[in-house]
Amino acid sequence: SIPVVRTVKEVREYRERWRKEGQKVGFVPTMGFLHQGHQSLVKKSLSENDATVVSIFVNPSQFAPGEDLDAYPRNLEHDLGVLAEVGGPNQSVSLVFAPTVSEIYPSGIPLDVASQKGAFVNVVGVAEQLEGKCRPAFFRGVTTVLAKLFNIVEPNNAYFGQKDVQQTIVVRKMVADLFFNMKITVLPIIRAESGLARSSRNAYLSDSVKERATCLFKSLKAAKNEYKTKHECSVAKLTQLVRQTIESASSKFTIDYIAFNDPDDLHYLESIDASVGCILSMAVYVPNDFQDQSKGTTRLIDNSIFGPL
Ligand code: PAJ
Repeated sequence: SIPVVRTVKEVREYRERWRKEGQKVGFVPTMGFLHQGHQSLVKKSLSENDATVVSIFVNPSQFAPGEDLDAYPRNLEHDLGVLAEVGGPNQSVSLVFAPTVSEIYPSGIPLDVASQKGAFVNVVGVAEQLEGKCRPAFFRGVTTVLAKLFNIVEPNNAYFGQKDVQQTIVVRKMVADLFFNMKITVLPIIRAESGLARSSRNAYLSDSVKERATCLFKSLKAAKNEYKTKHECSVAKLTQLVRQTIESASSKFTIDYIAFNDPDDLHYLESIDASVGCILSMAVYVPNDFQDQSKGTTRLIDNSIFGPL
């Protein structure tokens, strides 16, 4: 079975051994409640490295007060089962790092940014667009925890999903600008058969909401099709198509944003430059249960990269 450790010291002991043996180390950072999206990252890491570390840590500093930090699903037994499914008899995850909050943030981490103390990593620019607009301290939390985890695990390779496309751009920027000595690999979005992007947060949704929420993927496909086949480059027109596709699926879905951004610096586009392409991304609030308002809402994200025409 896969060894699970809780402390920085133990990870460093493994890392030291692997260094002495000349082993290449792959790393998959996660917040747990693992699914096929995470499995695809782990599979890739197993194929490209001698040892693979998976971290499972619900990182408080990337949640704002009022977000779902307490409700976020946590189940280590489930996660170890999902990890055991990946790989074969002679290849499996070498180590799971599942630290406590105080191990990663020894002086505590109040959710309210104004009362936080200590060292933080901020990527200025790309982190302020899109998700960063709606969730101002989100990427500061993500890059801070990743800088910590990268310094603990010292991986040769780290694996991320395109599901969180802005996260991949922010992380690449951090790694390049701060000279982290490692390579970042980004892998495609894994979806359910219905088209709904896999997400730990899908656990909040009733079956009928999940079914209707396939409109996110449908809207991405519809817009990409207009771009590819009719060369439609007007962001206003494509946004209208996406909006209609989502709003006609349910009047209870509320669009947070639909945006078209440059794939490199994420500046907002009014028209897609067909020689460059764009990232179409969205965030949509959906009720967890159409029948029962008291069950709250979930913010779903999805995206598609449009290549050059
Ligand atoms: P988490 O949401 O658990 O995701 C961990 C990794 O799995 C991320 O790189 C994410 O993009 C990828 N992933 C999630 N769903 C996916 C899907 N359907 N297809 C492909 N990849 C998918 O992202 C985080 O955790 C955190 O922000 C973290 C990087 C761990 C920092 O706390």
